[in-house]
Amino acid sequence: MIEVENIKKQYNGSFVLNGVSMSVKTGEAVALIGPSGSGKTTLIRAVNGFVVPDSGKVKVRGKEINYRNKESLRQTRKKIGMIYQLFNLVERTSVMENVMSGALGKLDSGINLISSTVGLLFHRREREKAMDILRFVGIEDKAFERVDRLSGGQKQRVAIARALMQEPELLLADEPIANLDPKTSKKILELLLRINEDKGITIVTVLHHLKSVMDNFNRVVAMKNGSICFDGAIGSLTQTDIHDIYEFDKDMECLVAA
Ligand SMILES: Nc1ncnc2c1ncn2[C@@H]1O[C@H](COP(=O)(O)OP(=O)(O)OP(=O)(O)O)[C@@H](O)[C@H]1O
Ligand SMILES: [Mg+2]
Repeated sequence: MIEVENIKKQYNGSFVLNGVSMSVKTGEAVALIGPSGSGKTTLIRAVNGFVVPDSGKVKVRGKEINYRNKESLRQTRKKIGMIYQLFNLVERTSVMENVMSGALGKLDSGINLISSTVGLLFHRREREKAMDILRFVGIEDKAFERVDRLSGGQKQRVAIARALMQEPELLLADEPIANLDPKTSKKILELLLRINEDKGITIVTVLHHLKSVMDNFNRVVAMKNGSICFDGAIGSLTQTDIHDIYEFDKDMECLVAA
């Protein structure tokens, strides 16, 4: 599903990605960890085409991303759903409108088609699909509520529903539970893993809470200073590895012990 081959990226003369290689198979669920500033977000953004590496290449679904070609970027992003820490929803509109916007990428001529007859048919079919997805993520009762009235956990469910509306093959999540309380975080992670297991959608998610990673993921990739310093089964991640990744960060030790 993803092949990252020796990518490098510099900002202001320093390497943010310093020769990163990683591959993720279809159907895998991978947790991406590492201290702040280690390059996790930059790596994720290179995979969805928003960060252009200085060298190296990235393949998604077997196709190398051509960062200079709009059509190549569109094709890459079409099958990638994105989940963010701050949800990135349109707060002043309804849940349904937000979820429906996830379907727009599938229309070749984009939003204009929505006003045509074909668009209306498309619209009706997609609305039914949106309701099914809202049911799947557990907030069908909020379909016509304004997003700014929802709790953080409900907002993240809307964002996940919007991503599913795209019929993605890959979900990239950047700290999807960072703004949620522990109980809600657990439920959102369970939802992401259910999507991985039931729908076979590949998931790569940045997570800061090590206990959540250990409880839920088989494979972990750790970054440090722009390089991957661990990539393997969670069971083979030792305390020494963890100390090494986080350099004896006291806060992280608390999380490990928790
Ligand atoms: N557009 C940019 N311009 C300049 N520097 C950048 C840019 N984007 C990222 N950086 C720098 O690259 C480094 C890695 O950033 P990145 O956001 O990938 O880290 P991260 O591992 O996601 O950190 P966090 O856990 O805090 O989210 C940081 O030092 C950051 O300041
Ligand atoms: Mg980040």
